[in-house]
Amino acid sequence: MPQLPPVDVFDYIVFGATGDLTMRKLLPALYYRYRDGQIPDQSRIVGTARSPLSRADYQGRAEKALTEFVKPADFDEATARRFLDLIHYVSLNGAEADSTWPALQSLLTEAPEDRIRVYYLATAPGLYGQICENLSSHGLVTEQSRVVLEKPIGTDLESADAINDHVGRYFPENHIFRIDHYLGKETVQNLIALRFANPVFERLWSSDAIDYVQITAAETVGVESRGPYYDKSGALRDMIQNHLLQVLCLVAMDPPGSLEADSLRNEKLKVLRALRPIAPDDVATFTVRGQYARGRTADGTTLPSYLEDLGEDATSDTETYVAIRAEIHSWRWGNVPFYLRSGKRLAEKCSEIVIQFKAAPWSIFPGKPRANRLLIRIQPDEGVTLSVSTKDPTLTDSLALRPADINIAFEKAFGTRYPDAYERLLLDVVRGDPILFIRRDEVEAAWRWIDPILRGWAENKAPLHTYPAGSWGPEAARALLAQDGHAWHEDMA
Ligand code: BG6
Repeated sequence: MPQLPPVDVFDYIVFGATGDLTMRKLLPALYYRYRDGQIPDQSRIVGTARSPLSRADYQGRAEKALTEFVKPADFDEATARRFLDLIHYVSLNGAEADSTWPALQSLLTEAPEDRIRVYYLATAPGLYGQICENLSSHGLVTEQSRVVLEKPIGTDLESADAINDHVGRYFPENHIFRIDHYLGKETVQNLIALRFANPVFERLWSSDAIDYVQITAAETVGVESRGPYYDKSGALRDMIQNHLLQVLCLVAMDPPGSLEADSLRNEKLKVLRALRPIAPDDVATFTVRGQYARGRTADGTTLPSYLEDLGEDATSDTETYVAIRAEIHSWRWGNVPFYLRSGKRLAEKCSEIVIQFKAAPWSIFPGKPRANRLLIRIQPDEGVTLSVSTKDPTLTDSLALRPADINIAFEKAFGTRYPDAYERLLLDVVRGDPILFIRRDEVEAAWRWIDPILRGWAENKAPLHTYPAGSWGPEAARALLAQDGHAWHEDMA
């Protein structure tokens, strides 16, 4: 059921086409949109990677990916066959100037010059600049070309600047789409609707009524086969610098003047720039980092440690868990802590935002009413729950209170499938709509805040805690909130 009209005919050229992201996310997302009638049949998806594969070999891999990563109920044999016909493959080392570029050139120039071209770089970020340079020197950057950069852009501000400068020599900023798939999640977009279409929330959205905010992205998986990337990255670069800071921006920003991309991005940027810096000497006070040790699932299965996951004799001080007490220096948010946390091998897979309101200043009831809490569940069980106090109906002869929830479970309420974040984002690039993509200055502002924390950790100014796999993270993360008299969601009464 298409929500928008089909996009214009396009060529989508994916660098890193044999990788995990392409197989797990990009191809299934394009399949869904094709099935929904949003992709015209003349469009082409061109995989490129170093492996010497034929077109048929690659189509075979793509087919396997679809059977594995598209829900069986959504997989239609005939549609998949037609979708696979859109797929081409060019064996190419995008980082080498004298690789088989003529093969890509001749494939692309079969199409009219004004066809939309999207170059999706699902490779190591260190290659982005070189690939763009090679695209340009082989005459492949047309007026209608865009480039998509996967996160993380660099490993710090300096390397991010170098990548952005290099790419920026060949593509203008409005043709560079820096993807952060959290922005494509329905529930993250829904934050904009929830906040700016419902004055009931927006009127209370400040330190006047809000006590503190928690943003969590917890995963049960470990580092899996991504050890070589992850060990150089760690949770701060992998999740906080991008996904969690973007969510924080949407929670904290002022109302944008319109739904025009730059209007929204200007407001997000103001939030990033208002984050109180955490100096290297302060990392022990405001951050907690941890690495999972051996542990157990709730049903008693043993889980390996991070070092065991990395492989024999591995040593590493990379964090797989981060908690941060952030502050935003603005009138709206003065004195409201924003607690951010993300970790691998935690007790549950869940991404959520908790808005904890202040308690009533005075109580006429026996006992204190519990303060209201708004829980925004990004995934799974996407929805919103407002905790309120009601009269306890079981105690008919008194005005005793009882906590209750006002709950919207989106999937049930709207009876619709929740698409994967990549579905919307991949076609937004074709539409040329940058609203859910990150502008260069946002990337820079995020690194500017993250870099001193990385420096403090590199200088060992905060200990690296361990936590049992399958738990909610290091004890020190509890203490981080306890010092403010607060608790993480799972520990809340
Ligand atoms: C990616 C990170 O950006 O997001 C992964 O690189 C992480 O380490 C993933 O697992 C989490 O995404 P989601 O959508 O499952 O919350």
